[in-house]
Amino acid sequence: MTTTIFSTAEERIADQVARAAQEGLSARPRHLPPWLFYDEAGSRLFEQITRLPEYYLTRTERAILNAHAGQIIALAAAGQPLRIAEIGAGSADKTRPLLAAAVHLQGAVIYEPVDVSASAIAVAQQRIEEEMAGVTVAPHTEDYTARLELDPALPGERRLVLYIGSSIGNFEPDDAARLLAKVRAALAPGDTLLLGVDMVKEASALLAAYDDAAGVTAAFNRNILVRLNRELGADFRPQSFAHRALWNQAASRIEMHLESLDPQTVHLRALDQRLEFTAGERIHTENSYKYRPGQAEALLAHAGFCTVAAWTDSAATFTVLLGRTA
Ligand code: AVJ
Repeated sequence: MTTTIFSTAEERIADQVARAAQEGLSARPRHLPPWLFYDEAGSRLFEQITRLPEYYLTRTERAILNAHAGQIIALAAAGQPLRIAEIGAGSADKTRPLLAAAVHLQGAVIYEPVDVSASAIAVAQQRIEEEMAGVTVAPHTEDYTARLELDPALPGERRLVLYIGSSIGNFEPDDAARLLAKVRAALAPGDTLLLGVDMVKEASALLAAYDDAAGVTAAFNRNILVRLNRELGADFRPQSFAHRALWNQAASRIEMHLESLDPQTVHLRALDQRLEFTAGERIHTENSYKYRPGQAEALLAHAGFCTVAAWTDSAATFTVLLGRTA
């Protein structure tokens, strides 16, 4: 006899949250995965982060994309019809100049956003279809780190995959290479990948971007505890954990941690677990890797892409690279 267990997307996510908390909070050092940040409140806080004066990433990348959209699209299309996919699309806010350039070049374009958040995609789809004539949105609700499936391209069509916003920065170097290799495997010869990476810069600028004066990033970090309180019946006191952002020069990454201010006991009711924190003990919540000149090109090459072009701002704080399948 076979038993098939059907579960809804919500049940699967609840299961992943429980598993991540169970594993990460009993490990030493304790850690939680950064995807846990993005519940509804966390996604809103992240949108706020992107508008902070200290958080240079979003506005710098947007300026690069605005300035070079026409050239990016022309290089990607290389004289053939182009369709555009975006992994981790979210609100797809920075994508518009690229879609506009594609519509300008060829009259119409198919845009396939891929994101785990169905609600973020729905908002993006509605906004884009309302405001951008010529763009057809074909959304995929999917965890692209687990699997990447795109609609088959038409014969003669080229595909451009966008992976912008420094999302790659959350991955360990090996995992980043594996992820890009998976993207490569979903593509055909001549297709392209547009990758946005944040560059190593003076520590003071990096630290300010992850520890802003208004405390939005601190709230974003602590929201992970608020989420576990709600979803796992935990009793974290978020204010008894300090937000810490550190620059790990050797590993070339910003780290975010939550540091227990006192010795304290926390219960996770749904897991029937009790956690004892010493004063100063940390939960590691995020790594955000920063790239040195040449490293993104090497990562692309490793995954089977040759870098066709790269664009940066005048201070070289952020880089957008176009790789073509080798
Ligand atoms: C969404 C992964 C690009 O690492 O800069 C922002 C997330 N964390 N502030 C980043 C984040 C703290 C962001 N990424």
